Amino acid sequence: MKKVDVVLGLQWGDEGKGKVVDVLTPDYKVIARFQGGPNAGHSLVFDGDGFVLHTVPSGIFRKDSVNIIGNGVVIDPVILQDEIEAIEAKGVDITGKLLISKKAHLILPTHRMLDAASETAKGKGKIGSTLKGIGPTYMDKTGRNGLRVGDILSEDFIQRYEALKYKHYGILSQYKFPFDITDYEVKWFSAVESMKRFTFIDSEFAVNRYLDNDVPILAEGAQGAMLDIDFGTYPFVTSSNTMTAGVCTGLGVAPNRVGKVMGIFKAYCTRVGSGPFPTELFDADGERLRQIGREYGATTGRPRRCGWLDLVALKYAVMMNGVSELIMMKADVMNNFDTIKVATAYKIGNETVGDFPYECPNDVEPVYREFPGWKSDITGVRKYEDFPEKFKQYVDFIEKETGCPIRIISVGPDRKEIVLR
Ligand code: GDP
Ligand code: IMO
Ligand code: MG
Repeated sequence: MKKVDVVLGLQWGDEGKGKVVDVLTPDYKVIARFQGGPNAGHSLVFDGDGFVLHTVPSGIFRKDSVNIIGNGVVIDPVILQDEIEAIEAKGVDITGKLLISKKAHLILPTHRMLDAASETAKGKGKIGSTLKGIGPTYMDKTGRNGLRVGDILSEDFIQRYEALKYKHYGILSQYKFPFDITDYEVKWFSAVESMKRFTFIDSEFAVNRYLDNDVPILAEGAQGAMLDIDFGTYPFVTSSNTMTAGVCTGLGVAPNRVGKVMGIFKAYCTRVGSGPFPTELFDADGERLRQIGREYGATTGRPRRCGWLDLVALKYAVMMNGVSELIMMKADVMNNFDTIKVATAYKIGNETVGDFPYECPNDVEPVYREFPGWKSDITGVRKYEDFPEKFKQYVDFIEKETGCPIRIISVGPDRKEIVLR
């Protein structure tokens, strides 16, 4: 009996999940997203072209793959429709390749307005949300008010939509937030109509039956462990469980049907939006990481905050996710660095701590271990033996600290720029 293998982010998102899922898809017939929504931006690069996916799983470009949007995902039909058109423009016939859970929740135009109103009201304390309506949609899900994909086919869909919309109007008037959804609402209903050409499924049955029939499934996470609603740097987090546990609730698979957990991390750290980031750099090294790594948001275009690798946070994420193997991304970005630093602990006041703290005060001081840079271009490396010794020392150290083997090393954005061990 097959199990669901998992790929998920161990930092603050944008680790390179899209690329890795695209690379691994040929080993898996089925790719399934289990949480998040269009706040995600997963980049794929192949045949000299780049592509960003927001809602559709990153297996979509591989021949014969089946791509499932699971019940734990929240969907904005307008964004999904735009994405589908862009995929079809690349000559992919997506109709039979994309299956959507009936139980996935819909992001209404007013959810987007509520997101914007809430962020505006927070002022300086804002989360730095992608403003896609994620938080308000999950609030309506847990508040038992939400609309689901399966509801699209019900006779009273419009009435239920209107009822929820007017409820939102009431909240928006309390915020005194000016808004106009007229144009978006027209697009939204048109996109909802277009969605009907896809098969709406009971994805929990589909996923379990695939497993019963020995069909391998890969679950694709969005965001990262440090943005998890429970264990991330709350309140500067997203509104879903981004971790392995989210695979169970977001796809309907039992914990004993979860197989390998592949945790992805960048060889350094980035974060977009507000919130604690102990190893953040405000100097020339930070700017270099941003420029060479092209660290600008795939969804919002915002510059990403950059800093050194943080083993305190990484070890926390490895523990919480039950990571069985690691995947390291973007080490090529540091090809020309003289010195590379890694945080192994934090100094908070007079105390040195190794466990990620409940709150990260502004003056947390990372304790760094320094490594000499490898000072050579590793982009062309395809076999582990061919990496420079100094690079291997960096890899060894991370493996030893996390207790996890690094099985895949990505050395560039393209599908082909990868080293499998
Ligand atoms: P995701 O959200 O985890 O899928 O990651 P994003 O797509 O938001 O961000 C990762 C960025 O890094 C994208 O621009 C990728 O094309 C790029 N990328 C992925 N792997 C590598 C790598 O190994 N080296 C370099 N230089 N870029 C990479
Ligand atoms: P992928 O899947 C990086 C961040 C936002 C903000 C916080 C809350 O591409 O890794 P939300 O829109 O969920 O209300 O935003 O979470 N965030 C991400 N950061 N990558 C993402 O997705 C993100 N999705 C949300 O910047 O700080
Ligand atoms: Mg991203």
